[in-house]
Amino acid sequence: MAILPKVYVGLPIQETGLEILRGKVDFRIWTDEGAPSRETLLEEMKDADGLISGLTFRVDDELMAASGKLKVISNYAVGYDNIDVAAATKRGILVTNTPDVLTAATADLAFLLILATARRAFEANEFMRSGKWKVWGPDLLVGMEVSGSTIGIIGMGKIGAAVAKRASGFGMKILYTSTKRRTEVEESTGAQFVGLDELLKESDIVTVHCLLNEQTRNMIGEEQFRMMKKTAIFINTARGTIVDQKALYKACAEKWIWAAGLDVYEKEPVPLDDPILKLSNVTTLPHIASASNVARNGMARKAATNLIYALDGKRPPDLLNPEIWTV
Ligand code: DGY
Repeated sequence: MAILPKVYVGLPIQETGLEILRGKVDFRIWTDEGAPSRETLLEEMKDADGLISGLTFRVDDELMAASGKLKVISNYAVGYDNIDVAAATKRGILVTNTPDVLTAATADLAFLLILATARRAFEANEFMRSGKWKVWGPDLLVGMEVSGSTIGIIGMGKIGAAVAKRASGFGMKILYTSTKRRTEVEESTGAQFVGLDELLKESDIVTVHCLLNEQTRNMIGEEQFRMMKKTAIFINTARGTIVDQKALYKACAEKWIWAAGLDVYEKEPVPLDDPILKLSNVTTLPHIASASNVARNGMARKAATNLIYALDGKRPPDLLNPEIWTV
């Protein structure tokens, strides 16, 4: 009987992904609460040919070295800032991610945060349930009108473009900044390519959709929040560390901007004593942008498929370091 490649699945991915792995690889999977400890990961990596990783742990050079024969790191996420891709490339290890399948779910959630923050939906829910609703009133929980407002999209990749499509349905004026100009999005949604400063100054809603990398880390800080309108709302469904969270706290607490809606944070899970959780003008969700059944099953299938392709010597569909693909 042929010996199957050994794989560690570092998070409990959906059965739809595991079905793809069965019979093709010999896998062990983390199914306990929380994330595997460093010791567990180092131990599990011994003799591993493949790893399915996720946002719950870092994959650095030491972890890659623990195996000695690792061929592929397949990330169950579209973002891959949890992986030292340069170190993997140096070691000749293929790295993959899960684009496309979560685009719609993430854009939907960005819109949920936009609407909920603008119309104070979570605050209103809390208001009702705590018995504060005594009378209907002209001033009761008045918020900001989303339809017809100006949205500024930072990062016009697939998710940014899906947000632009939704925004055009709301009759919004769309400004965007991105590493590349997207003329097809401009044509289909009327989006205008502008510099970051202009976007911050002109937008009623600023929403972040770029990757986290050395260029975007802490890209939005005090200076940027001070450029925004006092009536503006700030939305982040990308990565927490693209933003200086202390500056964001000050901007919301001291009303330099009107409100924020967040799905991602500097530190996740957010400690309960983090002051950001105390602000009534900040809507918070626990990093669930891709948490639809369609997206999560798609991510599981993609993570498993990319891994199997790599271990079979075929080019994985979502390869992030193609420079080392030599076949
Ligand atoms: C991603 O894929 O990068 C999300 O943050 C988690 O789905």
